[in-house]
Amino acid sequence: MDKKTIKDIDLKGKKVLVRCDFNVPLDENQNIRDNTRIVAALPTIKYLLENNCKIILCSHLGRPKGEFKPEFSLKPVAKELSRLLGKEVIMAKDVIGEDATEKAANLKEGEILLLENVRFHREETDNDPEFSKKLASMAEIYVNDAFGAAHRAHSSTVGVASYLPAVSGFLIEKELKFLGKALNNPERPFMAILGGAKVSDKIGVIDNLLEKVDALLIGGGMAYTFFKAQGYNVGDSLCEEDKLDLAKELMQKAKDKGVKLMLPVDTKIGKEPKAGTETKTVACTEIPDGWEGLDIGEKTINMFKEELQKAKTVVWNGPLGLFEVEEFAVGTNEIAKVLADLDATTIIGGGDSAAAVRKAGLQDKMTHISTGGGASLEFLEGKKLPGIECLQDK
Ligand code: 3PG
Repeated sequence: MDKKTIKDIDLKGKKVLVRCDFNVPLDENQNIRDNTRIVAALPTIKYLLENNCKIILCSHLGRPKGEFKPEFSLKPVAKELSRLLGKEVIMAKDVIGEDATEKAANLKEGEILLLENVRFHREETDNDPEFSKKLASMAEIYVNDAFGAAHRAHSSTVGVASYLPAVSGFLIEKELKFLGKALNNPERPFMAILGGAKVSDKIGVIDNLLEKVDALLIGGGMAYTFFKAQGYNVGDSLCEEDKLDLAKELMQKAKDKGVKLMLPVDTKIGKEPKAGTETKTVACTEIPDGWEGLDIGEKTINMFKEELQKAKTVVWNGPLGLFEVEEFAVGTNEIAKVLADLDATTIIGGGDSAAAVRKAGLQDKMTHISTGGGASLEFLEGKKLPGIECLQDK
């Protein structure tokens, strides 16, 4: 990576502002349902502790839209982090208010302070210079380790870097190492599996990956737009009518580039997208009216499996069916199992595909699971992430 990390600067005893992505899922009782993102921040925090830093952590949680809303408080994160570190994490009552600034000013070496949700201020998402300055004034060094928020040009991800020496933490370093190598220097054959509901969400990714991969395997709701584009009936399946030409263009681009574009051959259809609905499996070219495609079928699973056996690098983004419903999670789960057994580098883009792999209990079998949803998608699109661009070059 060509950006400086916390290893490249002297931060012994310094007051360091660290942007983490503590945007974790909470249940209705404010219990953390998945602490992956907190665990992922530990290496950086521990390194700063070893260097006797005074650590000020900040993050967003959800989208409170500039208002103080207790249900978006980072208090549960402070508790979980404290449990994981076996050490007190001081919780500020606000972000740049009296409580936070006083606690930050009095912080001692080896102490950790967590500011409240930065999105309690609208200035955060506006990347307001005054807000950034105030946030930065609490510390001497800025560390960005929030890979999941690196595609956002906000105050705490970008703005503060104008006022402090800015470097990356270990999580961002790790994400760039795996995602970057897969995109720029993959061991071949390099294959990508793309799923998810909409083609429109993945246009940029498909376009960029067609420049890089040897094969592109498509599943999930977006596959039906490709079938409709070829003139087939897709019944009630998800389909973006305004993206039919685009689907045709992408198929043509794959042909021109010599990339093997694999669409499903069969699909499990249901009367409704919910548990207990009537189901059957049909060819993707024969979906009757009144039914919708909700998963890839067995023939497709076997076909994808056979192709993936040849891969040396696989990137996967997006589930291959309605995986939240058990009867339509088969394709996603089976492909996760195939990846788990491959002798290849396997990279899982964040968001739903990461959730699916965890749900299948296969997270330890993958080379890398990104902590970023939107961020990893934008990275795969070949976009520059503002939260990384603003950091100091090596
Ligand atoms: C995520 O969950 O993908 C990140 O935390 C970013 O959240 P956002 O989409 O609300 O900016």
